[in-house]
Amino acid sequence: MDHSMKDKLGRPLRDLRISVTDRCNFRCSYCMPPEIFDKNFKFLPKNDILTFEEVTRLSTILAEKAGIQKLRITGGEPLMRHEVSRLISMLDKIKGIEDIAMTTNGALLPMHAKKLKEAGLKRVTVSLDSLDDEKFRKINGRDVGVNKILEGIEAAQDVGLAVKMNMVVKRGMNEEDILPMARYFKNTDVILRYIEFMDVGNSNGWKLNHVVSKKEIFNIINKEMPIEPVDPNYTGEVADRFKFKENGHEIGIISSVTDAFCSTCSRARLSADGKLVTCLFASKGHDLRDILRSGASDEEVAKHLQYIWENRDDQYSAERLKNTDKKQIQKIEMSNIGG
Ligand code: GTP
Ligand code: 5AD
Ligand code: SF4
Ligand code: SF4
Repeated sequence: MDHSMKDKLGRPLRDLRISVTDRCNFRCSYCMPPEIFDKNFKFLPKNDILTFEEVTRLSTILAEKAGIQKLRITGGEPLMRHEVSRLISMLDKIKGIEDIAMTTNGALLPMHAKKLKEAGLKRVTVSLDSLDDEKFRKINGRDVGVNKILEGIEAAQDVGLAVKMNMVVKRGMNEEDILPMARYFKNTDVILRYIEFMDVGNSNGWKLNHVVSKKEIFNIINKEMPIEPVDPNYTGEVADRFKFKENGHEIGIISSVTDAFCSTCSRARLSADGKLVTCLFASKGHDLRDILRSGASDEEVAKHLQYIWENRDDQYSAERLKNTDKKQIQKIEMSNIGG
């Protein structure tokens, strides 16, 4: 395993997204619909979930031997994992890790922001799909109001965490919220990104006509508040960046459906139960937990990781629209791999 390791399509491994729990305090209709993720739903039992030591060991191997520089902590809702800031402080000590971020729904940030920042977290990405309180309460399935999330953002900013915002856009759910969100976040320090609704997992009832395309989103915003493209921060960035001509503030659009970015995808995902998933739309992951728990050496684990990466040829989004007539494949749920 070396820093120049490439998959079958020539893509390096740069970025590890670590899911620390499959549980969430929300039931967003497009991710964990409450009628499926109900009280009978079987979440992962505790013993199946990687310990912080196991996650840190894997991350260290990937940083030292494959040159991973970026980690993102996800869930489910990562703040539901007991003492997650302890994990962050362990990850922050790994040589070579330059950036640790977290994707969260934000509701628990007021309670955790300070500890997270002290542990070494640099930034958070908070999800919010509408500023309309009644609608947001329905979307999140747990009657949580918009103010709770805005308080979470403020708590993060107060302790010096940089904040981005994700808004999933689904036709029939919230396309009328595109403009109010842009108007609101244009005059803040928060970078808002619209995400095209994706066919992750098999539970969310995705249909192509639910997707509001990048082009449509761009036009809606541009008509009222002119925006212009900005160069990516790094190769393989998922969001197309724009800035408002009026004040230079950044805004982004993530277009996995209408303009896929597989050709530069250098991300691997680790599920809470220790499976390495090489694509957001994969049917299954590669089990690492048994190897970790079998007494394998770091060299042996590294070799196995190299084998997995070098055999990777995923490009689901690039091929999605060609495959619409095929039988639906079984896919991992978003709540297991954190987006
Ligand atoms: P930074 O650029 O480091 O800020 O992170 P990011 O934009 O990758 O952050 P984030 O985790 O918020 O990603 C935004 C969303 O883009 C995710 O929640 C997913 O919905 C989507 N996304 C991220 N990576 C991929 C990917 O590899 N494939 C697809 N199809 N979607 C992705
Ligand atoms: N399509 C697009 N984005 C989604 N997210 C969750 N499910 C979907 C989906 N089906 C978003 C969440 C969060 C991030 C992890 O991914 O809102 O911002
Ligand atoms: Fe909503 Fe995120 Fe929880 Fe999914 S994991 S239900 S998107 S808050
Ligand atoms: Fe990467 Fe798969 Fe997303 Fe393509 S669809 S960008 S290969 S995770």
